[in-house]
Amino acid sequence: MKQSAPASATATDWKDAMFRTHAPEFVRILAGRPACIDPSWLGRIFPRAERRVSILDLGCGAGRLLRPLANIGSSVVGLDYSAELLACAMSEAQALGNVTLVKGDMRNLGDFFPKQHFQVIVRAYTSLGYFSRTVEGQILRACHDVSTPDGRLIVDTFNAEWFRAHPVIERTTHLADFDLLEHYAWNEGLHSVRCLWRYTRGDTVITEIPFDLDGYTLTELDQLLSTAGWARELLIRNIDRFQTAHENEGLERLVVVARKAKK
Ligand SMILES: C[S@@+](CC[C@H](N)C(=O)[O-])C[C@H]1O[C@@H](n2cnc3c(N)ncnc32)[C@H](O)[C@@H]1O
Repeated sequence: MKQSAPASATATDWKDAMFRTHAPEFVRILAGRPACIDPSWLGRIFPRAERRVSILDLGCGAGRLLRPLANIGSSVVGLDYSAELLACAMSEAQALGNVTLVKGDMRNLGDFFPKQHFQVIVRAYTSLGYFSRTVEGQILRACHDVSTPDGRLIVDTFNAEWFRAHPVIERTTHLADFDLLEHYAWNEGLHSVRCLWRYTRGDTVITEIPFDLDGYTLTELDQLLSTAGWARELLIRNIDRFQTAHENEGLERLVVVARKAKK
């Protein structure tokens, strides 16, 4: 395979390569993976759903979830650090009317929002392993601060148990003008998933983005939530399939709803 000069060669962080330098490719990948949100979930979490619900879409990216969230909540704030992805979300946000976009780093949540502001925080498809466990704990604590006392957090992560059982996974997606190869390999020593996303056009490699995502077992996820003042309420199949999942049924991704507990 030919290796063209990858545009990400100077990027030091995989997130910058994926979500900023190669934002156009990332947007096209997501366009082929529409995500909806099961509209029943709000009523299940908050039975008196006529109340106003303010939602934070943490790591909203190009705004894939903004419309379904805006249909559920009275107001939605989408926060992302990528100006390139937020630019793609802008016209949707303006058309919706009850959505505000904020450019910011989720590691500094307290700089952007007052305490006890959001009823629901959704961090979808932004696996917990993006940052070290210490930093993930800090982010979850900041989420706790900006949530109302009855606040809920929906968060997902790779399931370490599943990857242990499926140590090497490879998937190819054909898009209109390039192909995406995803390669995932479980690293038992680091307790993480070694990931590689490779974009190719014909036999030319556009770029390769290697990254590691921490794996969490459900027990580890519960512990992390607990240290940040959250308690798992539900394990669900996915945000668009809000059905309770069983702990031992082998899910690739753990998606949980947590409620505020004492820190
Ligand atoms: C896999 S995408 C998911 C986007 C969106 N939630 C969706 O489902 O379409 C992860 C998102 O996290 C954002 N992100 C990564 N690091 C971030 C940070 N430190 N602060 C805020 N957003 C961040 C990326 O820019 C990207 O939009």
